[in-house]
Amino acid sequence: MIEIKQEMTLGKLSLTYRVLFTGFLLVIGLGLCMAGAQIMLTHGMADGKPGLSMNDIVYSYYGNRSGSKLESALNGKMKAKANDDVKFTMIQWVRDDAPEAQWEKVGPLFEQNCGNCHDAESGLPEVTKFEVAKSLAEIDHGASIASLTRVSHIHLFGISFIFLFIGWIFGMAEFNQTWKLILISTPFAFLVLDVASWWLTKFWPIFAWVTMIGGFGYSLAATVMFVTSLAQMWLTRWTQK
Ligand code: HEC
Repeated sequence: MIEIKQEMTLGKLSLTYRVLFTGFLLVIGLGLCMAGAQIMLTHGMADGKPGLSMNDIVYSYYGNRSGSKLESALNGKMKAKANDDVKFTMIQWVRDDAPEAQWEKVGPLFEQNCGNCHDAESGLPEVTKFEVAKSLAEIDHGASIASLTRVSHIHLFGISFIFLFIGWIFGMAEFNQTWKLILISTPFAFLVLDVASWWLTKFWPIFAWVTMIGGFGYSLAATVMFVTSLAQMWLTRWTQK
């Protein structure tokens, strides 16, 4: 391994730059914790249970394709709200992709059985309206291409800057050169892997595990760089050499 002569190490930086870098690292660290909490609260709850699981990732990107909200309501919470014949007709309509031509027939059933509660004042979805019933009858296909494109480009642009600066600071640490190169490059590789895995999971749910590995990989690399940089800027072992 080529040893690159290192002129400026973190411990020898002037107080000005140590304060600047420390401020940046602490705020970024706080931001990363918030990002983690946000993932738990949004994706973590996708399967109805707290905590991030494989199912959450599949539901978020691939969708829960076993059915629509309307059908699960008719088989679940709203089971007692109509007799079996009526529910059968409604579910049949849902499974036929909610055709407008048949609304003449099913519309009145929704009106009679559901309209009492699901009216405009209730705040509940107005299932007696065709558009509302139709949207509740759609199979959940997970993230749309439009939302994936938006989130992907924000993620790639934004996070690569965070890693550029964390890596830049860590580049001045005293550290085994090989490991330094590995730690500086891993976050970028895992970032691309992470974003790629969302797209793969959108089409093939089996790829959900890549999302887990991607997120874990760059969190780990970032933590090592973060802790090492702060330690070498402030602990006497490095600053008094
Ligand atoms: C007695 C009042 C009442 C009647 C009658 C009723 N609902 Fe509901 N419905 C509710 C309430 C209250 C909720 C919200 C409850 C909850 O989410 O725990 C709800 C929730 C729903 C939801 C879930 C909405 C969502 O966004 O997840 C659907 C779908 C639904 N009802 C469909 C129907 C259908 C179809 C009928 C007729 C067969 C019906 N409801 C009849 C009171 C009623």
